[in-house]
This record gives sequence, C-alpha cells and structure tokens, in this order.
Amino acid sequence: MTTPKSSEPVPAALRVRELMTAGLLAHAISVLCDLRVPDFLDDPRSHTELAKDAAADPEGLLPFLRAACAAGVLDEPTPKVFELTELGRVLRTDSPNSMSKMCSLTCREEFNRTWSHAIHTARTGEPSFSVPHGKSFFEYMADNRDFAALFDKAMVSSAATDNLLASYDFSGARHVVDVGGGRGAMLAAVLQRHPELRGTLLDLPHVVANAEPVLEKAGVADRVTLVPGSFFDPVPESGDVYLLSRVIGNWNDEDSLRILRSVRSAMDTDDRLVIVGQMPSENDRTHYPRQLDLYMFALLGARLRSPDEYQQLFDQVGLTVTDHWNFPDSESVLRARPV
Ligand SMILES: C[S@@+](CC[C@H](N)C(=O)[O-])C[C@H]1O[C@@H](n2cnc3c(N)ncnc32)[C@H](O)[C@@H]1O
Repeated sequence: MTTPKSSEPVPAALRVRELMTAGLLAHAISVLCDLRVPDFLDDPRSHTELAKDAAADPEGLLPFLRAACAAGVLDEPTPKVFELTELGRVLRTDSPNSMSKMCSLTCREEFNRTWSHAIHTARTGEPSFSVPHGKSFFEYMADNRDFAALFDKAMVSSAATDNLLASYDFSGARHVVDVGGGRGAMLAAVLQRHPELRGTLLDLPHVVANAEPVLEKAGVADRVTLVPGSFFDPVPESGDVYLLSRVIGNWNDEDSLRILRSVRSAMDTDDRLVIVGQMPSENDRTHYPRQLDLYMFALLGARLRSPDEYQQLFDQVGLTVTDHWNFPDSESVLRARPV
C-alpha cells in the first residue's frame, strides 16, 4: 500500500481507521479485475476511456481507480489518467502469473458472507462457511456452477507448477495420479515436461468435466485418464507417483487422514506421494501465510501444517517424509514413501 509522504507520525486512531478499511482496497482491485480494466491498460488511459472499454460509468469507476492507486497497483501520472505499476501487471489476464481470477475469487459474495459470520469460528472452532450457506464449501460448489467455475479457473491460474518442476525429479516415473487435481493444470505441466509419463486426473465430476480444454491446450490429453470421483473413496492404483496439491490443506485432521488412507491403500512400496502446499516457514516475506491460515480455518476448518505436522498425519497411515523443498512464501513440496 502506498502512503502519502509526510514526516509527521500518524496518530494511532488514524492508523486503525486505515487498517479497518484496508479490505476495501482488495474490493476495488477485485472490481477492476471483474471489469477487466488491467487488460485495457496497455498505455496510460483516462478514466473516461477506461469506463468506455469496461462498459462502466466514468464517475463511478474513478474512486475504484484511485483506491487501486492507494494499493499500489495503479499510478495516476496526471489527473484522471491511469497506468499499471509493475505490481499491477500481474492483474492482467495475459500475465504469465496472472492473479486476475484469484482477485475476483477472493472478493466473491460467498467469501464476504462467510466473513460476516466469522465470529462463529472464533466462538466454536467450526468453519463459518456453512452458517450463511447451509452446507460446506465443496458441497456448495457442486451445486453452484458459476462459483465453481471461477474457483476452478483461479486454481488453474495459481497452480504451483514451477515449484513442483523445480524440485521433484520425475525421471524414472511412469504414471502420475493427480488426486484432487482440479482441471489438471499441474498434471498437464508435468506431462508436458516429461513426454514419457502418463497421468490420471481424479477430482469431483463437475470439475473433471471441464478438464479437457486444459489438457488439450497443453497437448497431453491423449496421455491422461479422467476419473470423476471422490478421494474419500478408493483411488486408482495405476500410479507410481501420487500427487496431492493444495488438497490436504483444505481439510481437518480427520478428513485429511481419510484422504491419505485412500491414497496410501492405492500405493505399492516403491510408489511415492508428493504433497504440494502451503507450509509456513521462517523464510516467508509476506503476511500471506498467516492470512491464509485464518482463511482456511474460517472457510474449511483446516489449518496450514508444518512438515512435522504432516509427518504426524503420515505416522498414522504408514508414510514417511523423505524430502522437503521450501519456497518463499510458505510454498512447499514434500516427498513421502510408504513404510
Ligand atoms: C484447492 S483445489 C486444488 C486443485 C489442484 N490440485 C491445484 O493445486 O491447483 C482442491 C481440489 O480438491 C477437489 N476436491 C474437493 N473435494 C473432493 C473430493 N471429495 N474428491 C476429489 N476431489 C475433491 C476440489 O474440487 C478442488 O479441485
């Protein structure tokens, strides 16, 4: 966030006032992403030009653009003319690490409703998502395709594929089973890099139903078997590498153990389990891991776990961690083998 320059210390009440409205900056960025404003900013544009491109009202758009300046993703080099900052460039949909869908997702009404009931989590230790929605997060998604489509696209655009490919050595592997693999972005990248590998993509039916275009685009669809189903049921035994990316972090210990048992039952002694997920570490440079921990708990009743906490779960299902790669900011890859 950029702050106006002044040498005067800011009184505590004004700082708290700013803190309590900081969430509005996130909402402003989310609205601009929904309107695809970052995509229209190849060059500096006036608020009237941007409003025309985005089918918005110029005066209505202006405070959102200025809030985005306060957040540091836009600049206003001359009055009412805006340009993307370096930070803001990741909001474009054509950016290699585009955050556009993630920004739209984070401020969706379902999350806002959840946050307005978050005191339930603090009082009871239970997730708050089901309080306004009457069902759990993943149950709700199965019935709300519009929300599910945005979630799945955000997962595709944010898959931690680079970390996996930079750490895990797939040479010698034959078949990767991606359990809870979403629309298959990570599996597609792994198969693209390793033409000798085959893959299986397991996820809920409404998710797998939309995986084909992602796999086709990567040119790997002919090497992937799609399995619509649940990881609480037996998972395919065809793999020698089992991938759980950003899955165990969504569940409490009891459900995590059920998933790990399903996977462990499918594994032979020489097979490997690879966990990709958020594991806070001393190297973290942003507040994101702490914020995500709160997010996951209020939403799903799940916690970010350290590698040692993963090992405690593994101890109960007959797995042991053999390698751990830690990337900033809390991104990790664990390799485990059966014991
Ligand atoms: C946070 S997303 C991660 C997706 C992908 N692995 C990635 O890293 O981008 C969690 C995934 O778990 C899937 N999931 C939730 N419940 C499931 C179940 N019972 N069986 C299979 N997949 C499930 C969701 O549909 C979603 O795709």
